[in-house]
Amino acid sequence: MSDYEALARQPITLKTPLPGPIAQEAIARGLGHQSPSLIHCYPLLVKRAAGCMVEDADGNVLLDCQAGVATTSTGHCHPAVAAAIAQQAQTLIHICGTDFHYPGYAELCNRLSRMAPGGTDDWQVFLTNSGTEGVEAAIKLSRYHTHRHNIIAFRGGFHGRSMGSVTLTASKPKYKKGFGPLLPGVHHVDYAHCSDCPINRSFPSCDIACVTEGIERNLFGHTVSPDEVAAIVLEPVQGEGGYIVPPREFLQRLRDICDKHGILLVFDEVQSGMGRTGKMFAADHFGVVPDLIVLAKGIASGMPLGAMLARKKFMTWGAGSHGSTTGGNPVCIAAALATLDLLEGGLVQNAATVGEHFKARLANGLKDNKGVLEVRGVGLMIGLEFTSHELADRIANTCYQRGLLVLECGKKSIRMSPPLTITKEQADAAADIFIAVCNEAVA
Ligand SMILES: Cc1ncc(COP(=O)(O)O)c(C=O)c1O
Repeated sequence: MSDYEALARQPITLKTPLPGPIAQEAIARGLGHQSPSLIHCYPLLVKRAAGCMVEDADGNVLLDCQAGVATTSTGHCHPAVAAAIAQQAQTLIHICGTDFHYPGYAELCNRLSRMAPGGTDDWQVFLTNSGTEGVEAAIKLSRYHTHRHNIIAFRGGFHGRSMGSVTLTASKPKYKKGFGPLLPGVHHVDYAHCSDCPINRSFPSCDIACVTEGIERNLFGHTVSPDEVAAIVLEPVQGEGGYIVPPREFLQRLRDICDKHGILLVFDEVQSGMGRTGKMFAADHFGVVPDLIVLAKGIASGMPLGAMLARKKFMTWGAGSHGSTTGGNPVCIAAALATLDLLEGGLVQNAATVGEHFKARLANGLKDNKGVLEVRGVGLMIGLEFTSHELADRIANTCYQRGLLVLECGKKSIRMSPPLTITKEQADAAADIFIAVCNEAVA
């Protein structure tokens, strides 16, 4: 059995209390020259990882239900992805896709166009190094194409941390604090978080008031003329904001507004894309086709790659108007092509099947727990909302102590975003620990 298989099949194994002595010492020693802006949510020193399992410096093996923040879609170090990277690294590492041709670039763009929502196969693609760069590209193209400068974004949304994308981000004030002034012309409105409606209505009798009143009546009536709006940018399923799935009607209304006023509809699928929701794109669940899509995270299993897709009719910028030195470099593209093979070869389906099972197990095991307000989500994008941030924080930390890695999101939620390779047995093991920790915390 290969080292990969041996670790990938290993159950949670704790040899020391977490963190162990080697990790503690190395982490303390290493902090001095790292940017203090890094969060380091757990004192975990990862030595290696395979599939859904992560081994720390002390030989403890943990079950990863966060996948490097929803990124190692094919599992850690999938042999096919690792082989593609190794082979490409011996052939061509860099030449610059903005200025030169190489086969993988076009192949990836063609495949993404074929896979994109709507089945039109008329998309053009700009490759980036990250999600935030994809969002910046979408902001620039929207302004360029429409000759307008205003952008509508949503409270609770997360789009990155560079100056343009962080202006759109509105999940937590800490992302903006101290960095202003930001991009002008960005207007935030309410997202359709129906189980905790920001304007105290209930779906469906509200008739999507967050759009009809929030955007059409209030924003367009008082603040900004729709013919000066370049784009409406949103996550079709909110990620960092709490794993919130809106009703189809919300996205459809936004589509209608965009069509009526010549506004571009931009879906940021950096977190929800690449099979995580059990379909290739979250948009595919709703039957709403955007004009631009931003992808990153799971697209290359953890190699730094992002993509901004636009329908051909909107990709009107000319040569030299936008570019990147390393965006879409050959090694990341090799990882992406291998990742797409695996996603289309069964992992998207696995995300749907195991995601459904995992969510049902969690919902069932926590139905009487007074600290859990909601279990929600789609595919392997599962969110659990608690009664307080303090409780969510305590539960996440206790899970880590027991060998289960999860991440917080929203104001008081925890997200489950494991690799799409997770098996039912691993999902059951994660659910057992999570339910036990919640039930101990709230008896
Ligand atoms: C929806 C969404 N958009 C954009 C980003 C930014 O991506 P990156 O961190 O790769 O810049 C993230 C990152 O979490 C995200 O979740």
